[in-house]
Amino acid sequence: MTANASSDGLMEEIVGLCKRRGFIFPSSEIYGGYNGFYDYGPLGVELRNNIKQAWWRDMVQRRDDIEGLDSTIIMHPDIWKASGHVDGFSDPMVDCKESKLRYRADQLFFAPVIVEGDTIGYVSVIECPEQQEVAEQAAAALKRKAAKQGELAPIVLKDYTESKPEEYELIPSPATGKPGSLTAPREFKLMFETKVGPLADDSATAYLRPETAQGIFANYKSIVDTGRVKIPFGIAQIGKAFRNEITPRNFIFRSREFEQMEIEFFISPNADWKTLHREWIDTCIDWLVSIGLPREGITEDIHPEDKLAFYSQATTDLMFQFPHGEQELWGIACRGDYDLMQHQKHSGKSMTIFDEATKEKYVPHVIEPSLGVDRTLLAVLSAAYTEDEVPNDKGKVEKRTLLKFSPKIAPVKAAIFPLLKNKPELVERAQALYKKLQRRWNVFYDASGAIGRRYRRQDEIGTPYGITIDFDTIEKDGTVTLRDRDTCEQRRVTEDELIAFLEEQIDG
Ligand code: GAP
Repeated sequence: MTANASSDGLMEEIVGLCKRRGFIFPSSEIYGGYNGFYDYGPLGVELRNNIKQAWWRDMVQRRDDIEGLDSTIIMHPDIWKASGHVDGFSDPMVDCKESKLRYRADQLFFAPVIVEGDTIGYVSVIECPEQQEVAEQAAAALKRKAAKQGELAPIVLKDYTESKPEEYELIPSPATGKPGSLTAPREFKLMFETKVGPLADDSATAYLRPETAQGIFANYKSIVDTGRVKIPFGIAQIGKAFRNEITPRNFIFRSREFEQMEIEFFISPNADWKTLHREWIDTCIDWLVSIGLPREGITEDIHPEDKLAFYSQATTDLMFQFPHGEQELWGIACRGDYDLMQHQKHSGKSMTIFDEATKEKYVPHVIEPSLGVDRTLLAVLSAAYTEDEVPNDKGKVEKRTLLKFSPKIAPVKAAIFPLLKNKPELVERAQALYKKLQRRWNVFYDASGAIGRRYRRQDEIGTPYGITIDFDTIEKDGTVTLRDRDTCEQRRVTEDELIAFLEEQIDG
């Protein structure tokens, strides 16, 4: 029997496993942690690097039309004025005056509780998959408390940004459960500020980038002028981004320091952008599937035209079924020529390109696939987390926890075991194979404990293959036992067959 843990407990299980096995720790943990910041331990950093490398290989190195870039985190502050971030990059916030807690107004939902046409009060709930149910239970409780007879009208939740001034005093704070302490929603700026240079006045204010994209736009001209690019082409960048999120939550899903993998794909203003957008959506879905996400867990959220930013032609988010619900994983936006035009205007430098094919000069339009590394990692962990039951060394069926990572991104690719640690000939042979494989991949050597327990330890960290050196290896034909993590099936293979197999599974 194989089953994923129920989605309620899944996040807790993942967080626990990540800490226990050294994938992810709360940042500054010895000082009690720091909300919205996470550190990646020995296995986490491998997984993270493998995701980034897979993306870079597939999006940059294996394509002829995309160039790479690594720009600075702190850039000229005018870049953020031109991009609109200084004035417009904010989230609506609401404070609870009593508890001093802060909420994102668009994640705080409320509804009037109406019985037989009379509003007897309000309920509020913080966004969650069960918010409707929670609100209905709270409304029923309010009705009981008010001893109001009659039928409860359906509870219609709205987010707090839609509240009217006369409702602020009536909506209960999620912190206290009582009305009267919530403020009006107001905009909260998300960019982290810092000072550059010896002066501490406003002229020294700079920003930690909230996206890598502007680094690409700011370098577009240098790449066009120095490279051999021709339309259509893309510039890709992987790097840290920082946002002072009001409510970082759901583990690494929404944090204050994270990493992005972004592409700006420049196209002719006359190109069939709808077709190109569709091609990018398909490319992104295929890539997610290639690193092991289930196709059925990925859906498309097409932003309605009336909700698009004024410069945006279209945006489709790829949504993934995370443990805390279906949420955005990858945004694929058609941004027209907005960003390059803004930088042309603010910098005074021409952003035009000469299109050799059509002999036209223009400022290109752009399609922007933008993906978070940490969010991808959480998606991968959620999809991989599995609990099943398998027989132990003595044939007794036991529960096991395993991470079904694709071999392409698994932090440890294979574990090498001598059957017995007190037999020098087995140990020597296992060590030799370990050293050989270690030259190409991140592999692990383990000689301690019963072989079944060694397998289990590797299953829990998602190592796809176990390789055991036993007496047949040294006394008979030199073959080793190759065990598959997911099926637990074992077969004997020669060393050449083993290496060819690993090559195909890991690098293929
Ligand atoms: N340049 C466009 C841009 O930055 P976005 O939708 O704000 O668009 C793109 O972010 C992606 O970055 C998201 O789809 C998500 O994967 C990731 N991301 C955004 N904010 C994040 C946060 N606070 N924590 C983790 N990942 C985040």
